[in-house]
Amino acid sequence: MSTKVIKNGTVVTADLTYEADVLIENGVITKIGANLSGDEVLDATGCYVMPGGIDPHTHLEMPFMGTYSSDDFETGTRAALSGGTTMVVDFCLPAPGQSLLEALQAWDNKSTKAMCDYSFHMAVTWWGEQVFNEMETVVREKGINTFKHFMAYKGALMVNDDEMYASFQRCAELGALPLVHAENGDVVASLQQKLLAEGNNGPEAHAYSRPPQVEGEAANRAIMIADMAGVPLYIVHVSCEEAHEAIRRARQLGKRVYGEPLVQHLVLDETEYQHPDWDHAARRVMSPPFRSKQHQDSLWAGLAAGSLQVVATDHCAFTTEQKRYGVGDFTKIPNGTGGLEDRLPVLWTKGVATGRLTMNEFVAVTSTNIAKIMNMYPKKGAILVGADADILVLDPKAKKTIAADTQASAIDYNVFEGVEVTGLPRFVLTRGHVAVRDGNFEGRMGHGRFVARKPDQPVNRALSTWKELTAPRKVERTGIPASGV
Ligand code: URP
Ligand code: ZN
Ligand code: ZN
Ligand code: ZN
Repeated sequence: MSTKVIKNGTVVTADLTYEADVLIENGVITKIGANLSGDEVLDATGCYVMPGGIDPHTHLEMPFMGTYSSDDFETGTRAALSGGTTMVVDFCLPAPGQSLLEALQAWDNKSTKAMCDYSFHMAVTWWGEQVFNEMETVVREKGINTFKHFMAYKGALMVNDDEMYASFQRCAELGALPLVHAENGDVVASLQQKLLAEGNNGPEAHAYSRPPQVEGEAANRAIMIADMAGVPLYIVHVSCEEAHEAIRRARQLGKRVYGEPLVQHLVLDETEYQHPDWDHAARRVMSPPFRSKQHQDSLWAGLAAGSLQVVATDHCAFTTEQKRYGVGDFTKIPNGTGGLEDRLPVLWTKGVATGRLTMNEFVAVTSTNIAKIMNMYPKKGAILVGADADILVLDPKAKKTIAADTQASAIDYNVFEGVEVTGLPRFVLTRGHVAVRDGNFEGRMGHGRFVARKPDQPVNRALSTWKELTAPRKVERTGIPASGV
């Protein structure tokens, strides 16, 4: 087996920055140090050698709102690798009433095309004895330790509080981590009907129907329900101060709550929906919608302060033609935007190059924290001996202007069109294979492997222990009066 060595670069991890070469054998990092040699040399002069990005939130070839998201495991993982992301965690989405295991079989079939490694979250879209039972198989046999709950999309994917509480308790028993899409689906549905009745049917009404309050309310509710169930909680696509504030407050009270902003919410704002071109606005329809600058500042501050831990994309790409299903009725515009290829360059440019984030924080929020929260560290998210050689060699001087014409994603536009980014991959390695070399793509379909993730993280055990110690106990009394008349 031939060896590779990444030479002359600066290793940047979540906690250290230092000069070293990195030796790779059989897809794994086997040595880190000075003057290493190998069969193939990848020259990283002037570059940063980092753990490849992990996107914890993607929807590839997902059935949603009467169609399928247009990037599948081939084009989606091609986009990921092209931008320095070497692993995606995608959502397996059973239809309401469908077996979790049957849905998982469908996701296994789709993912054989993946060019980089991947894992799955399981969505709980309905509740019953079958779901309760299958959750155990999903955790113990299928290597999935995260369960997603939609508090929005009423009449489709949404679960109610009783179902969410039951599922969170089951997660606690199994040592799993519940995830929530936090928006009050009842209020959203009501606002949608009101706006449509008033003739407000354009894409801007999508944003009016999902104000920050619906997100803040749901985030608070999910946090309290998780606390009662004695389980940690991960809130996806945190877009506003109201949800961030709920997470901050919970963490200060010792609750184990994680928050995931998206790169889109950090950079794009609500004025996108006021654009005179219907297509422009509809292409940016996603839930939650883009917010004002004040909300963006809150999210950036949260990443720096550690009250938000992760940056994802929620990559869920629909073509312009698909977005046009909603002409005349904004509630029918498929919800979702892309970003897999752009997350790292955009975050580097708008975060590290502006001083909002350090390089080490960049690595933490795009890779290491994700690997830790989802229990795959240090196999993933690390430059350490024994870790998978999923590596991004980032050239901080390389530049490009983001354009749909040159992107890997299958759709016909890019929400970051025209954004100039500095900091691009010189090399991207997926388990030791070079997938990007000086801007040329060398990834291979089917190279990606499923990454199984175990339950029972220390945080789960700590919360279960506390829950057990503080559980209601019957008081044994010395005297009980005769029952009243
Ligand atoms: O609008 C969005 N976010 N679409 C993807 C599905 C979801 O809610 O995450
Ligand atoms: Zn969502
Ligand atoms: Zn999503
Ligand atoms: Zn291979």
